[in-house]
Amino acid sequence: MPQTFKRTTVTSALPYANGPVHIGHLAGVYVPADIYSRYLRLKGRPVMFIGGSDEHGVPVTIRARKEGITVQEVVDRYHQLIKESFREFGISFDIYSRTTSETHHKLASDFFRKLYDEGKFVEQTSEQFYDEQTQRFLTDRNIRGECPRCHAPEAYGDQCEKCGATLSPEELINPYNAETGNPLVKKATKHWYLPLDQYQEWLEQWILKDHTEWRSNVYGQCKSWLDGGLKPRAVTRDLDWGIPVPVEGAEGKVLYVWFDAPIGYISNTKELCDNKPEVWGSWETWWKDPETRLVHFIGKDNIVFHCIVFPSMLKAHGEYILPDNVPSNEFLNLEGNKISTSKNYAVWLHEYLREMPGRQDELRYVLTANAPETKDNDFTWRDYQARCNNELVAVYGNFVNRALQLTQKYYEGRVPACGELTDFDRDTLAEFRDVKEKLESLLEGFKFREAQKEAMNLARIGNKYLADSEPWKVIKTDPERVKTIINISLQITANLAIAFEPFLPFSSKRLREMIAMTSFSWEQIGSMDLLAEGTQLPKPELLFTKVEDSDIEFQIKKLEDTIKANEAANYKAAPVKPTVSFEEFEKMDIRVGLVKACEKVKKSKKLLKFTIDDGSGKDRTILSGIAQWYEPEQLVGKRVLFIANFAPRTMMGETSEGMILSAVNYNGDLSVTTTLDDVKGGSQVG
Ligand code: 2FM
Ligand code: ZN
Repeated sequence: MPQTFKRTTVTSALPYANGPVHIGHLAGVYVPADIYSRYLRLKGRPVMFIGGSDEHGVPVTIRARKEGITVQEVVDRYHQLIKESFREFGISFDIYSRTTSETHHKLASDFFRKLYDEGKFVEQTSEQFYDEQTQRFLTDRNIRGECPRCHAPEAYGDQCEKCGATLSPEELINPYNAETGNPLVKKATKHWYLPLDQYQEWLEQWILKDHTEWRSNVYGQCKSWLDGGLKPRAVTRDLDWGIPVPVEGAEGKVLYVWFDAPIGYISNTKELCDNKPEVWGSWETWWKDPETRLVHFIGKDNIVFHCIVFPSMLKAHGEYILPDNVPSNEFLNLEGNKISTSKNYAVWLHEYLREMPGRQDELRYVLTANAPETKDNDFTWRDYQARCNNELVAVYGNFVNRALQLTQKYYEGRVPACGELTDFDRDTLAEFRDVKEKLESLLEGFKFREAQKEAMNLARIGNKYLADSEPWKVIKTDPERVKTIINISLQITANLAIAFEPFLPFSSKRLREMIAMTSFSWEQIGSMDLLAEGTQLPKPELLFTKVEDSDIEFQIKKLEDTIKANEAANYKAAPVKPTVSFEEFEKMDIRVGLVKACEKVKKSKKLLKFTIDDGSGKDRTILSGIAQWYEPEQLVGKRVLFIANFAPRTMMGETSEGMILSAVNYNGDLSVTTTLDDVKGGSQVG
């Protein structure tokens, strides 16, 4: 970071208050933003970490209509839930406010009005999609239709969730109102546009030439937007929820959510500073002083708004600083599938807190270890378990526990003196010499994944040091030497408590208590006199505990059940086949058969062989491809339906004299049909 910056304003995308937050949010935005803010604080650099809920826009109105409650009720409910989830995960916002606040409404309204008064907008009347039955103009999100690229039937007016294409409603094939299903017509309406085309040249210089250091995914997306040529963007909408457009003749119109939401960062700063000026000073310092560094943490779907639209708004306004960096992550998938709020396919933070109590740091650790910093990544519960058990428990926890147990055992919990160092000690300590610089350079380069790895490496060094120096053996021959080994191990432990503080704040706090470390600073990393000789340590406790198979299996099953429920909910029965006459139907001889025996067909995974009592007095053999769904014994004694005059077929060396009828469930599972009552074998069905 160039020395010219005196302070940093860190923002994290304001999540829509239309549902709870999930691990994708945490991994993509809030954990990295928190690590960065905690690090800067530890370094003693002035930093303000801004968060808040995005309470305008269409998603909250859709949720309200779905749940039959008011929009205000929706945003109140989710704002509280989200705020609480973040607090529980240790996301150390200096303020977490909301875009329905009075401060925000006024600031966003004034922002718009200034640009309007200065003629920075272009006014345009255009034809927009309108639902005549509900008498509403529809926003992009409320319009659905067939995707022009991949032909998914239910793409949104702004994006296709199937192929990820960014769309405009005009491109959709057969657009309709997403909620009512009504077809749409075009109707004229006036809106204000930010003429992004006028900022194109400036943006090209500012991003493509002056910010080549931005992450390649961010830079690349900006370049592709700029290469495509920017067009004016409407910053108002016909909607009854949001900040009214502060212009005469704009009744029934509100600011576009993407116009007001980023201004929310500024409003929340103002709210914090106005409430605690003695701590934070003037809000303007955090947004207008060129010596303030502005950093936006966001997910990749927000890149265009934070790198192109918002900077153009700030530039048009003229008084604000611009983001110095926008470390956007890619997406996190879940067990190979896309996380989806609307499909309820996610690991919700409030549920994790309930189901895995006290394991916030475990999730923070795994999400950082597997952070989608450069490409989309996958979260799996098996990987979560492996990382917790093999890294947190087996490396970090194990080292700390051994160091503390040995201190307890040999010195009744008092830190022993460090004696003369051996070459082996010196080699180990040498590994700590440049750790601080390494960590700093990674953290300042937004490489949190690697930075955390570096911190974990310190625990590995500690583990190896203890294992190789074998104090439990040496104690018998050279007890003086053991004092030094334990002292060094405890100093390494203290280093770990500091190095992990930005990543695992809860465990670091506990660890500091376990080693009676009352004060600490980032600058101490690498130092080997953090714990004074004679310090009395409390009785050791485990820093991390194993994640059991049953915990993981529960979570995996929950996700599988969600997928099944979604499939069942989306199941549409196949269209009815062409009509058949009674005569045609009568050609089919369907009968009831009593299953006398059933067995697997050798060398076949699919086939079961039935011996059927068909009322003829002779056994009938029928093969059926249902072995995947039944154990043969389950079917013995059952009455099944079969086609008696089905042409015989030979399969796997066996001849099948008929066909057993099964229903095909929505997911392809087969279920053998049977009769409700006890009907004799051979009875005809018709
Ligand atoms: O994508 C989202 O969830 C948006 N609510 C993010 C807004 S970020 C900022 F502009 F407030
Ligand atoms: Zn598509």
